[in-house]
Amino acid sequence: MTSIVALGGTPRPGSSTEKVLAIACRAAEAAGASITHFDGAYMSSLPFYGGPGHSKEAGQEMVAALREADGVLIASPGYHGSISGLVKNALDYIEDLSTDVRPYLHGRPVGLIATSFGHQAAMSTLLTLRTITHALRGWPTPVGAAIRTTPETFDEHGGILDAGARIQLELVGQQVSGAMGRLT
Ligand SMILES: Cc1cc2nc3c(=O)[nH]c(=O)nc-3n(C[C@H](O)[C@H](O)[C@H](O)COP(=O)(O)O)c2cc1C
Repeated sequence: MTSIVALGGTPRPGSSTEKVLAIACRAAEAAGASITHFDGAYMSSLPFYGGPGHSKEAGQEMVAALREADGVLIASPGYHGSISGLVKNALDYIEDLSTDVRPYLHGRPVGLIATSFGHQAAMSTLLTLRTITHALRGWPTPVGAAIRTTPETFDEHGGILDAGARIQLELVGQQVSGAMGRLT
């Protein structure tokens, strides 16, 4: 079975960023992929990469999962117009894959999702995630999702009420799933 690492969230349990990431994950699962999640709580436990408290053991569950992954899904909130420090620090751990035969995210499709309260930060955050993916030698999927999240975005079960947003998120999951194993 093909495997996807889903990395994203905020320090807030039950964050809207995790909810929208879950929608993309379900679409990828429906297409046959298995998903390993690294959420806001996990990312909050990571020391600053290369900083005090960082050791070579830190983050190695995530690094090992990324090493084996056939595809990746990343979701970040837009904080002041860009990706959050929490998500960026987690992505910095991909430096541990720099000397692999398949370095960084080489050959892997990467589905990208940005959330924010307004349109502008969602779009600029999505573009930053694309730039980072290129730097990591990954392949951003053609469709990325820039999602406005407000208290009215979700129903009481965490389902998304905005049909257009749901379609974007499902497409991101399906495109990662469909591209796995086909890129060099
Ligand atoms: C420090 C901080 C900065 C933020 N900056 C912006 C911003 O520049 N533009 C915007 O639209 N929303 C901004 N927001 C709102 C977040 O993007 C929004 O809460 C996001 O969807 C994350 O929510 P979640 O914790 O439910 O996932 C900011 C929130 C925080 C906490």
